[in-house]
Amino acid sequence: MTTAIARNLDLASALADAEERFTRANPDSKRRYDGATKVMPGGNTRTVLFFGPFPLTIARGEGCQLWDTDGHRYVDFLGEYSAGLYGHSNPIIRAAIERALADGIALGGHNKVEAELASLVCARFPSLERVRFCNSGTEANLFALVAARAHTGRNKIMVMQGGYHGGVFYFSGDGSPINAPFSFVKTRYNDIEGTLKLIELHARDLAAVIVEPMMGGGGCIAADAEFLRMLREATRKHGVVLIFDEVMTSRLTPSGLQGKHGITPDLTTLGKYIGGGLTFGGFGGRAEIMDRFDPRRPDAWPHAGTFNNNILTMSAGAAGLSQVYTPEVAVSFNARGDKLRARLNALAEKRGLPVQFTGIGSMMTVHVLRGAIRSPDDLARKDKRWADLFHLDMIGRGYYLARRGMITLSLPMTDADLDGFAQAIEDWLDERRDLIAAGA
Ligand SMILES: Cc1ncc(COP(=O)(O)O)c(C=O)c1O
Repeated sequence: MTTAIARNLDLASALADAEERFTRANPDSKRRYDGATKVMPGGNTRTVLFFGPFPLTIARGEGCQLWDTDGHRYVDFLGEYSAGLYGHSNPIIRAAIERALADGIALGGHNKVEAELASLVCARFPSLERVRFCNSGTEANLFALVAARAHTGRNKIMVMQGGYHGGVFYFSGDGSPINAPFSFVKTRYNDIEGTLKLIELHARDLAAVIVEPMMGGGGCIAADAEFLRMLREATRKHGVVLIFDEVMTSRLTPSGLQGKHGITPDLTTLGKYIGGGLTFGGFGGRAEIMDRFDPRRPDAWPHAGTFNNNILTMSAGAAGLSQVYTPEVAVSFNARGDKLRARLNALAEKRGLPVQFTGIGSMMTVHVLRGAIRSPDDLARKDKRWADLFHLDMIGRGYYLARRGMITLSLPMTDADLDGFAQAIEDWLDERRDLIAAGA
């Protein structure tokens, strides 16, 4: 007992204990992971799903619950990084997929559902006069950016330091050596003055500014309305294409964060839940830009993609938006998220602990850190090991979430699920109180 308390006063040994416990509890996941490393680099084919000491192998899901191959049950607060909005077994989504399956896979033609899904998303998101579909958020951003470059005849792209737009658009720290080889100008999120200066400095070469209206992967940091408004005015003035990456944020209100702020970008990119939980990407916006993809034009830009109108995705997506995630549901669902976030912050405040939950509505991130968080720079002081410890401790309590501390709600979650989660966080704060107070 004495050793346990002593070890709990040191972050490194608390983490070592948590890893040891995790390893003991998950022999089947470990065995599968070890096997996978022989044929996949690091036993992994999607970096963000990896965590140490080894990731769990998930066997199945139902509603908002998951089971791993060692037989543990979790409430799923990872929510497939926001794509899992509908949960794992929504009957309306399943029926739509089954109906589509019955009529055949990969038909290789225009289908009956793609225009329906297009109408649904165009009706929802104010900037979308026209939309095209693809297979991922990354691909959507790639097409939006090359369209902006072709439209303006300019080269450079402004991004936010710490932003994320897909596997080849990673702007944390020094970025990534495998980023798409564009000429990027990096600016500081929510820095109105500095960003305006940079836009003016590069205006003649600047094709696009791309921004997440709330950074998702960067830590659920919301953009100030004034910052987005400045981007809208400055890009309009200088003929730069403003792109809102709403791959994650489009679910936060019935009309995304562009609707919440009343700010209409030139192009918007979509992904995640819009495909009903299946592979999806979408990009769209002003007809003047998008209509260059019209194949009837002699000067049309080509937009290929074998699975762009995949009938399973189109069907699941259309059923989801029309019958499940209606505007009313989007409002009440995100209000529940706001309430949960306030409750979690109050738990930390009551204990005087430097733990905060940032975000909007149904998406939030936990940070063990003092002080305001308005841009990824503010997270530089954060010790990454807190996220590791929080993650393993929550897994130990039956809650599956993202290693970086991102928490995403899904529609099947009941009040009892949210109460249970809040209780688990409260217990964690109490268990780790001395450690947090001493170390953060
Ligand atoms: C804001 C944002 N843009 C783009 C992407 C990339 O989407 P995908 O993983 O579907 O390629 C993500 C994925 O997390 C994202 O959060």
